[in-house]
Amino acid sequence: MPTSGDAPDLLVVGAGVIGLATAWRVARRGRAVTVLDPDPAGGASRVAAGMLTPVSELTYGEEPLLHLGIASRDRYPAFVAELEEASGHRTGYRRDGILEVAFDSDDLAFLNDLRRFQESLGIPTEALTGRECRRLEPMLAPSVRGGLLAPEDGSIDPRRLTAALLAAAERAGVRLVRRRAAGLVVERDTAAGVRLDDGTVLRADGILLAAGARSNELDGLPEGVVPEVRPVKGQVIRLRTRAPFLGRSTRGVVKGSSIYLVPRDDGEIVVGATQEEMGFDTTVTAGGLWQLLRDARELLPGITELEFAEVSAGLRPGSPDNAPVLGPSALPGLFLATGHFRNGVLLTPVTADVMTEILVDGTVPEVAAPFTPDRFEVEAEVEARA
Ligand code: GLY
Repeated sequence: MPTSGDAPDLLVVGAGVIGLATAWRVARRGRAVTVLDPDPAGGASRVAAGMLTPVSELTYGEEPLLHLGIASRDRYPAFVAELEEASGHRTGYRRDGILEVAFDSDDLAFLNDLRRFQESLGIPTEALTGRECRRLEPMLAPSVRGGLLAPEDGSIDPRRLTAALLAAAERAGVRLVRRRAAGLVVERDTAAGVRLDDGTVLRADGILLAAGARSNELDGLPEGVVPEVRPVKGQVIRLRTRAPFLGRSTRGVVKGSSIYLVPRDDGEIVVGATQEEMGFDTTVTAGGLWQLLRDARELLPGITELEFAEVSAGLRPGSPDNAPVLGPSALPGLFLATGHFRNGVLLTPVTADVMTEILVDGTVPEVAAPFTPDRFEVEAEVEARA
């Protein structure tokens, strides 16, 4: 990405955790960066609970994603220290492990399978009896059958994280334009700029699309350049407590369905999340709230005594294989950092590092190689040949 005169070196479309962290890092490498978003930090980053748990959210068949998640989780301490110093903001970062508990014997069988899978990949987790789980978290129901502790996992407050990123980015010279990016300007088969919703055109040497579930929405995107990114709705409840209630983030499997609770030092407890393929719908539904509260109460009966603070719904960006899409697109000048699905907050430090290397140095680091956009072009070619 060469530097130029008046136009910024980089235009970032989207001021969520991914866009802001990358903008901040690239600006710190001496590049001029502009970020476009009508509602900075107002999308999925605002709703997210902020669990940093590559191990607890491990899914069969997602080993490369697990390694990316671990790489990102392990960058968090240094990333947070640097960010808090640069911004003067606290982020609510905690690295106190994540407890995963089972409600009944089928749920325990599921967790035991998961533990064996984790062990086969060399990832240490500690198996706990029901009593040991309750010793760690005394408010857990007596019926909890057992669980796992992922000691290296943790959490962060995504709202504080975005506030810190906005402040750090601003201090590093990033310009924030509170307008919607409406279209991509393509000249001589190269991305040359972005047309805003008021018709203004901003030009840049490089354009980074980090608009989450809305990453396909720019007019003028040539077909096939951005893989399909779909919105996956998540409803989340925020409760408050003044007395100690939950010491660490706790996930549960309750009759086959998943629930998590993320406590913060200020007394907030985030309960999430539904996973619904409903298009661009952010309606909060009675059924969604009932499902979350029902499962949370099975694990922690005392939850019904807590103060209700907020309910919200966000849209996770799901790529065709539910893994992030990181790197240069097939259109010169256009770069992608999207499709982070359930892992946007977790993958923020590694995404910012990887994208900065790609944008500034022009090289794709090894950790990002399985996630470059061209993997979908290869798949499409194989399908066309079949
Ligand atoms: N990572 C938690 C969620 O997407 O609900």
